Amino acid sequence: MSSNPSQNKRVLSGMRPTGKLHLGHYHGVVKNWVNLQHEFDCFFFVADWHALTTHYEDVAIIEESVWDMVIDWLAAGVDPGSAKLFIQSRVPEHAELHLLLSMMTPLGWLERVPTYKDQQEKLKEKDLATYGFLGYPLLQSADILVYKAGGVPVGEDQVVHVELTREVARRFNHIYGREPGFEEKAEAAVKKMGKKGAKLYRELRRLYQEQGDGEALAKGQALLESQQNISISDRERLFGFLEGSGRIILPEPQAMLTPASKMPGLDGQKMSKSYNNTISLREDPDAIAEKLRRMPTDTNRVRRNDPGDPAVCPVWQLHEVYSSDETKDWVMEGCRSAGIGCIECKQPVIEAVQAELEPIRDRAREFENDSDLVRQIIAEGSESARDVARETLDEVREAMGLSYR
Ligand code: TRP
Ligand code: SF4
Repeated sequence: MSSNPSQNKRVLSGMRPTGKLHLGHYHGVVKNWVNLQHEFDCFFFVADWHALTTHYEDVAIIEESVWDMVIDWLAAGVDPGSAKLFIQSRVPEHAELHLLLSMMTPLGWLERVPTYKDQQEKLKEKDLATYGFLGYPLLQSADILVYKAGGVPVGEDQVVHVELTREVARRFNHIYGREPGFEEKAEAAVKKMGKKGAKLYRELRRLYQEQGDGEALAKGQALLESQQNISISDRERLFGFLEGSGRIILPEPQAMLTPASKMPGLDGQKMSKSYNNTISLREDPDAIAEKLRRMPTDTNRVRRNDPGDPAVCPVWQLHEVYSSDETKDWVMEGCRSAGIGCIECKQPVIEAVQAELEPIRDRAREFENDSDLVRQIIAEGSESARDVARETLDEVREAMGLSYR
């Protein structure tokens, strides 16, 4: 494992704008973001350019979807005071880095990304034999690397994209971190750490390089972490010198795997707009109750006194998400003995969903009525994201010999 962990506390994730969010997004992604925002320096963004890679022919839906999604994030508790919230296309540095990375990314790396062929198969009605679609995982790499994010919360299907990002970063550092006179410059930087720091750094470097001592590597990284008075380029040199590589300009990120959501849709399949089995975060209370009351149950329970089996009932999956052990025991026992009816069984789930969504719906309404506020949050988030992205691009341009003006 190799990386410059100085940005380890930075977490980045994005979502394509697909319209109003539903409970599947909430339990699968957004709740996780809400937890992460207290612990990490989080950057969350609307991946509107990513939406174009598949929806370049119907752009009209993107704009509305962008604002709906931002409102739902805010309503669900993503806090612009803790996390930076922004829109990809408002930070053009993503595009510049994508372009620069495209110069050194082998075509085969992109052609081999499994989603490339899969999605083309799945979305047959669209012509996805485009340059943009092939390059979309590299755009994702640029999204991540432009912030030097240490962690990327993603679902299983996106792990390969983070892997690609690591390879691209490694290749970039390999090609552009090998500056002339690297060793001398690194040695000069070591001295800037002061006598004690320099001695410790040399010792840890020796232990790692001669004996592969991983603990010494981690200690060395922590030591660099704590240095206040060295420049960014010196820091990059020292991280690279410690590991035996060139400068580490773009650190390799780690995927932070989000556990697959257990949130079933109204029919027991995964909740998804394309299955038409969703409850949206802003669904009104009557619609929630109605949808849940109409949910199919164990098809063997035709009459009230037929016993059933929760294992084959979609309602049970909702109990698994929402109910206490006590309630679950009541369901198990009552269903198998026909002691309870299905309407009765659904009641605690209906109440739990209502309780969960009521505050979200109220907050969403406030944001719907104050679109200036929403736009201001995004303007500020985009500006501060851009400050970080600009710094990275300055370094990248310099490393690539593009800093002449
Ligand atoms: N590709 C992701 C998806 O389809 C969205 C995304 C774009 C993303 N850029 C990202 C996720 C960067 C994490 C990091 O869900
Ligand atoms: Fe499903 Fe509950 Fe009816 Fe059993 S009692 S079939 S778990 S809804």
